[in-house]
Amino acid sequence: DAAERGGYPHFMLKEIHEQPRAVQETLAGRISEMEGDVRLDLGLNQWEIQTLQRVSILACGTSYHAGLLARYFFPRTAGLPVDVEVASEFQHMQLRPGTLLVAISQSGETADTLMALKKAKTCGVKSLAITNVVGSSITEIVDATIYTRCGPEIGVAATKTFVGQLVALFLLGIRLGRARNHLLPEQGRRLLGELSRLPGLIQAVLERRDQIREIAQRFSGADIYFFIGRDILYPIALEGALKMKEIAYIPAEGYPAGELKHGPLALITEGTPVVAFATCGEKIYSNMKEVRARGGEVIAFAAEGDREAAEITDTVVELPNTLPVFSAVLCTVGAQLLAYYTAQILGRDIDKPRNLAKSVTVE
Ligand code: G6P
Repeated sequence: DAAERGGYPHFMLKEIHEQPRAVQETLAGRISEMEGDVRLDLGLNQWEIQTLQRVSILACGTSYHAGLLARYFFPRTAGLPVDVEVASEFQHMQLRPGTLLVAISQSGETADTLMALKKAKTCGVKSLAITNVVGSSITEIVDATIYTRCGPEIGVAATKTFVGQLVALFLLGIRLGRARNHLLPEQGRRLLGELSRLPGLIQAVLERRDQIREIAQRFSGADIYFFIGRDILYPIALEGALKMKEIAYIPAEGYPAGELKHGPLALITEGTPVVAFATCGEKIYSNMKEVRARGGEVIAFAAEGDREAAEITDTVVELPNTLPVFSAVLCTVGAQLLAYYTAQILGRDIDKPRNLAKSVTVE
C-alpha cells in the first residue's frame, strides 16, 4: 500500500499532485493548433452539431459540479444553452429533439447516472459520456465517449478526475463552438493556448501547499465553513464545500457569492471562515467586505498582484494569472489542498471517509 502511495501519506494527496499530468494526458493529441480546434469524436455529423438546440447534462456528486461549469462555458463558446441535472432527479420528459445528452461519471458505474441515461435515451436523443474508466458500463449505453486520462483514482473523494472532467468539458465546448462557427479560429487558438499552460499553472498552485496547510491549521476548529464564488467559480464553491464535508466532516456551504446576503450571512459570526474564489470579476469584493463587516474571516484565492483582495483580507493565496474560466481549475486545486490538510490535522480517514463509497452502484 505504502509503495502504491508513492511516498505520499494518502492516495488523495498523491492524486492531487498527479493533476498536472492528468491534464497533460487528457489534452494529448486532441489540440489542433493551426485550426484553433479540437480533435474529438462526438458521434455526431457536422449537420447534427450545427442544428443542436441545447445540451443536457446528467451526473452525481463531484461530476455534477463539473457539469455545472459547462452551463457557463458552452453558451459562451458554442451559443448552446445547457441544463444540468442531478441524475437521481432527472425528468426525461423534458428532452426535446436537438438535445445532446452528456453523462459525466468518473467510474462509469454510478447507478443513478446509468438509470437516468437509459431513461433519457428512450427520447431518441444522441448521447455522449465523459468517464475515466475504459470500457465501463456507461460507455456501452452512449453513442460516443470522451475519456479523461487521469489514471486510476483510489481516494474516495474525487480530485484528479474532477479536473480531468473540467478539461474534457473545455475541449468539448471549444469543439462545439468551432463546428458551429460560434468561435473563430483565433478565439479557439487563444483558449487552447491558455489551456495548454494549465499543467504548469497547477504545479505553481501545488507549490503553495505550505501556506494552505497553515490556513487549514488556523481554521481546523471551525464548526462551519463557507465557500463563495460567482459565475464559473460558483460550481467550484460547491465542490470546495463538498470536499470539506466529505473528508474533514466539517459542515460546509457552497454559495453563489451574491446570495450570501439573502440568508447565510446570518450564520457568519466572529471568526467564521469564508473561502472566496476571487479570480473572476470585481463583484465578489463587496461580498468579501460584507463577511468582514460581520467579523468573518475571508480566505481569498486571488490572482497574483490582486491588491483589492489584499486590502480586504490578510489571508490571500495567490494564484498564477490565466483566463477566468481556467482559473476555476486553479481554485479547485487550492480547495482540495485546504480540505486535505484540514482532514489530516483532524486525524480523519482521508482515503476512506465514513459512510461513503468510491462508486455507488445502487439507486
Ligand atoms: C460517489 C463518490 C463521489 C463521486 C460520485 C459520482 O458518491 O464518493 O466522489 O463524485 O460517487 O461518481 P462518478 O463515478 O459517477 O463520477
